[in-house]
Amino acid sequence: MDGIKKDYVFHRDLKKEYPIITHGEGVYLIDEDGKKYMDACSGAVAANLGHGLAEIADAMAEQAKKAAFVHTMRFETKALHELAEKIGKMAPDPLNKVYFTTGGSEANESALKLARQYHRDAGRPQKHMVIGRWQSYHGNTIGSLSAGGDVKRRHLYTPNLLNYAHVYSPYCHRCPYHRQKEDCLAKQNWTCVTDIERVILELGPENVSAFIAEPIVGSQQGAVPPPPGYFEKMRELCDRYDIVLIMDEVMTGFGRTGTHFATEQIGIDPDIITFGKGVSAGYAPLAGMIVHDHLIEGLLQNSDGKFIHGYTYSGHPVAVAAGLAALEVYERDSVLKNVREQGSYLVERLLELKTKHSFISDIRGRGLLIGIELVKDHEKDMLFHPSEKAAETLNQIAMELGAVFYPGSGSIDGNKGEHLIISPPLNVTKAEVDEIVRILDKALTMFKGQLRKDETHEITK
Ligand SMILES: Cc1ncc(COP(=O)(O)O)c(C=O)c1O
Repeated sequence: MDGIKKDYVFHRDLKKEYPIITHGEGVYLIDEDGKKYMDACSGAVAANLGHGLAEIADAMAEQAKKAAFVHTMRFETKALHELAEKIGKMAPDPLNKVYFTTGGSEANESALKLARQYHRDAGRPQKHMVIGRWQSYHGNTIGSLSAGGDVKRRHLYTPNLLNYAHVYSPYCHRCPYHRQKEDCLAKQNWTCVTDIERVILELGPENVSAFIAEPIVGSQQGAVPPPPGYFEKMRELCDRYDIVLIMDEVMTGFGRTGTHFATEQIGIDPDIITFGKGVSAGYAPLAGMIVHDHLIEGLLQNSDGKFIHGYTYSGHPVAVAAGLAALEVYERDSVLKNVREQGSYLVERLLELKTKHSFISDIRGRGLLIGIELVKDHEKDMLFHPSEKAAETLNQIAMELGAVFYPGSGSIDGNKGEHLIISPPLNVTKAEVDEIVRILDKALTMFKGQLRKDETHEITK
């Protein structure tokens, strides 16, 4: 194996060398050379309480000493019940039963399967199709990847993917239907919604089982919130055609956008909310779904109370103990309030950067899930060519300067469109927000110096 360092790790990129992190302290990660990285994206929007919290580590150790593993086909633990109760009470009223998995992809697989079983057992055996959205991400397992619309992640596996349908998600800043947001609002006429109904009718409503969406599109579009009214209309469509509405809150859940779930801000009750990441603040692999009472009643009436599904590590005692301890810290430290305050402050500071750097064309998001769209020249609305890997390059520069962000590409059509997500731990301080903006400012200035001048791409609206 020429040209690569000899070790036994199957790295994400076999040709790359990664800093070895020895420990973390609050919003910082520290590597073996003592270099500090401001974790301005909470890893992958997961380490939502920062690093090195002894109370969460202690709770996990306590549980591991008592009972590290029980199989939920035979036994349960108190920690499982306590965490489920806390989450059930945080969710919208009619969503109460909590099912645990280890990751967000598994959570979404579980939701898609539950929707299917619910319909089949209620005497609608044809309902099996899922409708997802382009430029949305629901995970990397075959089912969740099929439901998602991340073109680059899907491409290689196209022959293996399930035959699910996709519509465009509403990205009003660059509407895929070439509409103007003001016009949609004034006329209350949304092409992104009427198109979903068209797809449902084309597929045949009798075949459609579930619709899955992120309330705020995260990694693939860079924190894009929906236009007002969009999800109400979506809820109406799902009711009309008896389709299970799954809200993927793997990234947005547990305070990230300033409320327990982003769904609260949208004002509808989905049939299933999936969650992950923030539930354990990254201290243990933990995720799951919260299910509406009417689906549970369906399972009790038509399926003898049994969901034909499950994983060895569902409700793992040490992971749920981590979740329980994390939720206690969220409450104790009034994290929701901090998210709203620091989130507004971060946007204020980023708007200052926008006046200084022509690379920033849009700043969006909610709470501490903030995205910036990067373009070559904002005034001329000139995009980066995908080969320039603008977001990745900018993040590399930031890492050298001591901060890590969450870069992404393909936000416009799966290929074009560069963005950076800024999503620090939810207990970040004002001084740390200033530090994030200071490093980003410097990184943008250095980035300008590195730009290749030869490739430009004019956007056609
Ligand atoms: C919205 C959303 N859904 C699902 C997933 C998949 O979660 P996991 O990587 O834990 O399987 C992610 C991960 O980034 C996500 O952001």
